[in-house]
Amino acid sequence: MINDLRDWIEKTEEIGELKRVKKEVDWDQELTAIDYLVGKSPQAPSLLFEKIKGYPPGYRVLGNVPGPSINRVALTLGIPTVPSPILLIQEIRKRYKKRIPPVEIPKEKAVVNENVLLGKEVDVTKFPAPKTFPLDGGRYIGTADVIITRDPENGYLNLGTYRNMILDKDKIGFYVSPGKDALLHREKWWKRGKPCAVAAVYGMDPLLYAVGSQSFPKTISEYEYAGGIRGQGIDVFKGEVTDLLLPAHAEIILEGVSHPGKTMKEGPFAEFPGYYARPAEETPYIELKCIHHRNDPILTIAPMSDHNSGNAMMQCLMRSAKIWDDLEAIGVPGIKGVYSHPMAIFGLVVVSLEQLYPGHASQVAALAAQCTGGAYYTKWIIVVDEDVDPSDLSHVFWALSTRCNPVDDIDILRNTWSTYLDPTRNPPEERPYGSKALINACKEHKYLKTFSKTTRLKEDVYRKVCSRWKELELPGNPPEVNVFEEGSSV
Ligand SMILES: Cc1cc2nc3c(=O)[nH]c(=O)nc-3n(C[C@H](O)[C@H](O)[C@H](O)COP(=O)(O)O)c2cc1C
Repeated sequence: MINDLRDWIEKTEEIGELKRVKKEVDWDQELTAIDYLVGKSPQAPSLLFEKIKGYPPGYRVLGNVPGPSINRVALTLGIPTVPSPILLIQEIRKRYKKRIPPVEIPKEKAVVNENVLLGKEVDVTKFPAPKTFPLDGGRYIGTADVIITRDPENGYLNLGTYRNMILDKDKIGFYVSPGKDALLHREKWWKRGKPCAVAAVYGMDPLLYAVGSQSFPKTISEYEYAGGIRGQGIDVFKGEVTDLLLPAHAEIILEGVSHPGKTMKEGPFAEFPGYYARPAEETPYIELKCIHHRNDPILTIAPMSDHNSGNAMMQCLMRSAKIWDDLEAIGVPGIKGVYSHPMAIFGLVVVSLEQLYPGHASQVAALAAQCTGGAYYTKWIIVVDEDVDPSDLSHVFWALSTRCNPVDDIDILRNTWSTYLDPTRNPPEERPYGSKALINACKEHKYLKTFSKTTRLKEDVYRKVCSRWKELELPGNPPEVNVFEEGSSV
């Protein structure tokens, strides 16, 4: 079982998906340029940079953590590799249903406490944080991370993935988009005139990163989802200078506080949509009080870019599973698949369904657009029939071209939940208010019975051709087909 990042690296190497970069590389753009260029390939391995210019041997950086690999997502979640994205999404859904609270262990047993630095010893520049792209405002230590905060009202602990720019030896930026959990927590503490305690965790078990970058309900801790997925509670210990529960097996943890109203200039940063969308702005920061780190620590990174190499596939699969679960929890029948396309990051979701009643497709589109898992940022919600694989974009485009009549089948939702990082809205103050297009690319329900018949094979003919494939010397293997002309004999 994987318990920490080092187990994960070992297992990734065993499945042949780890590349060690042994030669020295520069933290100043060179490291992330390699990550970006390698990450363009759908087969990109995880990259372990073993020697960083200006840093002691042993101080390493791991990029492309799950990357574009469905195998590494499955490994992270402890799921045996499955043949298709939709099947993996279904497996993830099963694991979301279990929740196991974290298990508190004595701090002496937490491996991250091999080094505990307090007071003047606190210096975050001791870690090889990269400058990711040329116009970044500084070095970003926090990208593939989890940031832990507590809700002062109910004690709920949130784990969220938010960026951290190094501002000083003992200060890092704390940029969180409107409506995200840590921002709501921070505002609640500040309203009480109190600082918000924060822990920034790097080099965590990638499972924590997987749950940290998802939208779960604001009342259930991501620790519980991670425990449920793993099948056992995550080991945590009580913080040294905060009352937060911290993951015992992480590589690096920074503990500190965010003071009411105090800000520093942060950014710009090469953001997840692939733009420097937000200029340098006054942003809350975390004043660091304590550093915990393992010997020879490994910093995890996820530089963003036009293809968002570090996290796109994990984001896609975890998010698809959450939206599907949300639809099921509301009680909508007939959902056959959900796919939040990796290239669009948060931007495009396709849902396939068996239309069971009038208005079913537009109900599903509106709910997928506004449920917990899907509300943030998504701009395009496309609903297709059950014979269309939502993870196959060519098939989805076919449905858009043949089952959607734009004048009737597109609805727009306005003033929806978005982020300052969306470059399409100007001036930038407008950006947190987005819009969504709900596209019905299903056969017209009113005329379902008489809708032009789709050309399909008879099943017995398909089976016969498959069995003769080699004899006929046809190339490769026959493609899988699951939908046949009705009434065909088996
Ligand atoms: C690599 C990466 C970096 C991210 N950086 C930020 C960020 O800086 N600020 C932010 O609000 N969301 C960021 N996100 C998106 C959030 O992690 C995501 O919206 C998540 O739902 C936040 O957790 P929450 O729902 O508990 O607030 C990032 C996601 C990833 C994968």
